[in-house]
Amino acid sequence: MAEVMNMEGHVRLGSNAGQALTRRDGILKVTGAAPYAADARPEGLLYAVAATAGIARGRVTHLDVAAATAHPGVVKVYTPANVPALAISPDEKIHPFVWKMEALQSDAVRYAGQPIAMVLAETLEAATEGARLLAPRYEAEPPRVTFETGEPYETDTTAFGRPATHRAGDLDAARGTAAHHVVTEVSTPAQYHNAMEPHAVTARWDGDRLELDTPTQALALTKTTIAAFLGIDAAGVTIRSPFLGGGFGSKAIVYGAQLLAILAARDLGRPVKMVLTRAQMYGPVGHRAPTRQTVTVNLDPEGAITALEHDTLTVTSTFDHFLEGASGASHSVYVAPVLHTTHRAVRGDIGTPGPMRAPGEASGSAALELAIDAAAEAAGMDPLAFRLKNYAETDPATGMAFSSKALRECYAQAAERFGWDARPLAPRQMRQGRLLKGWGMGTAQFPCPMFQAAAHATLRADGSGVVETSAADMGQGAWTALAQIAADGLGIDIDRLDFRSGHSDLPDAGIAGGSGHTATAGTALFNAGADVIRQLADLATQDPASPLFGAGNAGVTARAGRLWRNDDERSDSYEDILARAGLDLIRGEGKGVREGEPTRAMFSHGAVFAEVLVDPDLGQVRVSRLVGAFAAGRIINPKLARSQLLGGMTWGIGFALQEEALHDARTGRFVNNDLAGYHVPVNADAPMIEALTVHEDDPFVNTLGIKGVGEIGVTGTVGAIGNAVWHATGIRPAGFPIHPESLI
Ligand code: MOS
Repeated sequence: MAEVMNMEGHVRLGSNAGQALTRRDGILKVTGAAPYAADARPEGLLYAVAATAGIARGRVTHLDVAAATAHPGVVKVYTPANVPALAISPDEKIHPFVWKMEALQSDAVRYAGQPIAMVLAETLEAATEGARLLAPRYEAEPPRVTFETGEPYETDTTAFGRPATHRAGDLDAARGTAAHHVVTEVSTPAQYHNAMEPHAVTARWDGDRLELDTPTQALALTKTTIAAFLGIDAAGVTIRSPFLGGGFGSKAIVYGAQLLAILAARDLGRPVKMVLTRAQMYGPVGHRAPTRQTVTVNLDPEGAITALEHDTLTVTSTFDHFLEGASGASHSVYVAPVLHTTHRAVRGDIGTPGPMRAPGEASGSAALELAIDAAAEAAGMDPLAFRLKNYAETDPATGMAFSSKALRECYAQAAERFGWDARPLAPRQMRQGRLLKGWGMGTAQFPCPMFQAAAHATLRADGSGVVETSAADMGQGAWTALAQIAADGLGIDIDRLDFRSGHSDLPDAGIAGGSGHTATAGTALFNAGADVIRQLADLATQDPASPLFGAGNAGVTARAGRLWRNDDERSDSYEDILARAGLDLIRGEGKGVREGEPTRAMFSHGAVFAEVLVDPDLGQVRVSRLVGAFAAGRIINPKLARSQLLGGMTWGIGFALQEEALHDARTGRFVNNDLAGYHVPVNADAPMIEALTVHEDDPFVNTLGIKGVGEIGVTGTVGAIGNAVWHATGIRPAGFPIHPESLI
């Protein structure tokens, strides 16, 4: 048995947490045995295919429903003229995490790719052909899809209802006395999640009971949302979502085509399957909105930041409200006696943006980190020395102390590993053959939210356990890491644990998002196990036949399927305690929630160093090395945590050099809504990447000391690559992705 971790201020975990276990669902996945929503094949299945708008703004004036209906195998065509009504308008915002949807409520087109009809057929091929035969005609208006086609509007809130503006300190005074006033402008593009698994739903009705196979990052919210729009009791809705082939934020929301497939199944009395095509995932299921950011760093003569300004202009849809909160990235990393941040948006004929892996922070830190390097150059300082001088000891936005702060350690470990000491200060000093070589760095930071989760735990007479929570595994390894925590909660080996998850009948595990799932669902699972152990300990310490009789005051510890006295060596097995009490099982319940108002600023921290090679003739950039060090609290599974960090850093390569969704400004349509035109990193783009984890006890973040690792890897990395490109070429990137032509 591995050593029991005992971290200051935290509850003790057992031997399962902390182990680098291989993901428990790995074999299922690589053998194709893991069921995904689109694999469901109920008897009598119909296939639904959406027809989508070929214009971005205007009205559908004609659909050739007759031609589509006449096609062999087509069963029904739904248009705004005949679609059954929902109980609530899809334009109703019933929850901050419910986006306004398109479910054929009118003939209006508000973005290209919006569903304008739904064809039901006996085969996927027939439904696809039926949708094509609709040959829509339109009354089109000029599309507004760029920053130039609208007037920016002011708003009180950005994404998730956060304040759009933060003003602290006298900016005019700080500007007036600044020795350096360094203005950096950075643009970032629209990006799409492109999860490997497309959005899908298979719907079956039995009377007014509804059964769904559909991937979701938020089972309970999806269930209540769908029930509300369908006008049925949520208790009658069952959702299976055991696995997600990636989500990244896009599978936290309910969308119109999903509702239409469910409506069609009810209307036709047959099961219906609907799978979005890759192209159809560009529009109705969210995206990372483009930004134009201006970051201004004011410095005193010694290179200390006296004022920080971060202004973001972004694009949102014409009909809903979600603003990419990029300027928020400047709130909590660097000292800023004066801190002014703003957000504005232009409304465009696009689907509403939404959260995408490190929403706000990814784009915001990309701009901030370029600005910090520009400021370091103005001060004549090494970028690492400049960051060490200016990093915040206390959260500038709230004035609260950080719950823990291991950033200095992250800088030190990553710099050492990377070999930063050997870096020449000036750009264009290093070469590898004919290629220009450059080194850059960026600070990574991401908040540690907790949501709300519930879990059940059961100990059985044979000493094995069962835990239940509706947690979502979207590839991050929840099935494994959460089971490790749950096994420790019950004090048993993970091999003796049944982990039940991914089903809406189970207790609500909250949202798999915000890098808060392990902390939230994990705390609930641990507490459910602890509830069982409390009951078990009561039985044993009051039972004269138990070696633990009378150990109540000294207490007992649960480990390896036994309770152990704290005052001597004696122990009692779970089986024996239950048998003597005549019990088949003990059940416990637990919650995962952060109680009360936070008194500390809670973040994960990190530092990322990048090496790039730039072709001086072609402007082609290759990332040749990435080293990151991250302090993310207690690491439950080092192998899975490292994979998350590597994945985030790889995402950073895509952000810095590749990803960019492009609209045709004349039609408002996408020109690259597929994986041929929308580039993400492949193996050849991902060099040697190292992700180190720095030991960190955060006594405030939660009782288990768990932070998140899902999103922080993206932050810092983009800026590090941009700064390395400057160091190689002497050209500061004006935005991302960095285009080759901007470097020649
Ligand atoms: Mo994420 S953008 O918190 O799924």
